Amino acid sequence: MALRNILTKEEPTLYKKCRPVKDFNPRLHQLLDDMAETLQKANGVGLAAPQVGVLRRAVLVIETNVPEGEDEYIIELINPEILETSGEQDGPEGCLSVPGEYGLVKRPEHVKVKAQDRNGNWFEVEGEGLTARCFCHEIDHLNGIVFTSKCERMLTEEELQSGEY
Ligand code: NI
Repeated sequence: MALRNILTKEEPTLYKKCRPVKDFNPRLHQLLDDMAETLQKANGVGLAAPQVGVLRRAVLVIETNVPEGEDEYIIELINPEILETSGEQDGPEGCLSVPGEYGLVKRPEHVKVKAQDRNGNWFEVEGEGLTARCFCHEIDHLNGIVFTSKCERMLTEEELQSGEY
């Protein structure tokens, strides 16, 4: 495994639409393994392939809603599609490509996604709260959308510190 460089918001690559993954081969597995290492090193909760310069529809999301005593785990989503959403949450959102900045973004509270795994098998997965937010945020990346373009407003340092916004 190897760390990959995370592109920041100035890079035009982040604003391009990604193509579907067609080959579920060792090259894809290497990409996913590298992304996992990069994500964990950066202490993030999600990472999309375009953030490491690969314009393919592949993302990682860390499932953080786990029972006490159990480990968080990475969900690999290849060619993901949102099937259903419900509810609404409004809260701060950040991105490893926009370091140190956070903005208020409305997202569904509950999201059901269909995707392929690294071997091409389709599956469905549901997420709530932060995980639902993360599914939406990472899938946006695949369509060239960075959260700063859809947030109501960015948060100030004071708001972030106080947690009041
Ligand atoms: Ni992001």
